[in-house]
Amino acid sequence: MQITIDGPAAVGKTSLGRALARHFGCLFVETGKMYRAVALGLDRGLNLNEIDITMDKDGRFLLNGENVTDLLHTPKLDQESSQVATKPKVREKLVAIQRKIAASFDVVMEGRDIGTVVLPEAEVKIFLKANPLERAKRRANQRKGTDLSTTLNEIRTRDVRDRTRAISPLNPARDAIIIDTDRKSLAEVISEAIDLVKGRLGER
Ligand code: DC
Repeated sequence: MQITIDGPAAVGKTSLGRALARHFGCLFVETGKMYRAVALGLDRGLNLNEIDITMDKDGRFLLNGENVTDLLHTPKLDQESSQVATKPKVREKLVAIQRKIAASFDVVMEGRDIGTVVLPEAEVKIFLKANPLERAKRRANQRKGTDLSTTLNEIRTRDVRDRTRAISPLNPARDAIIIDTDRKSLAEVISEAIDLVKGRLGER
């Protein structure tokens, strides 16, 4: 089974993805963390061909064997990951890893290009949206002590970069179901998505 979740930064893909993966017994794959791990490797002075990214069965990300999962969510890597994601060689390398995982396991995979490029044959494709201010509030809430207007500016910068890059820009797949999360609680979004997946796949 392949369920894809795409959408812009801080829209709630991870919370939804984790819940869907638990409900349907799938492996949850956060592809944004792979781009973040590549950015971290480049920061450490490695070349792309010296960078090996793997994910273990608990969803932890290893950079050349080191568990870097807890180092990936910083404002610096927010921006750097979105920059490295514009590079064709980076995308080629990470898309290959993502497809390999999806060939071996039932997955809920989240990112920007999963429904359009990585897994175009997925059974269920979800695209989440919410306005930038709502997303900035959620992000500032997750990262205590972050200033709302700085977060909003950073999200807008990333939105433009993710949407306008030449290769695999952020777009809903033609067959994606769009869920607008603006005035919905996480519980409502999860329940809507579970119903939607059940409708597509039949009860499981
Ligand atoms: O989902 P995230 O915020 O952790 O992603 C970090 C960056 O990685 C995001 O700004 C764009 C890039 N990305 C991408 O281009 N394609 C993906 N499938 C996932 C993330």
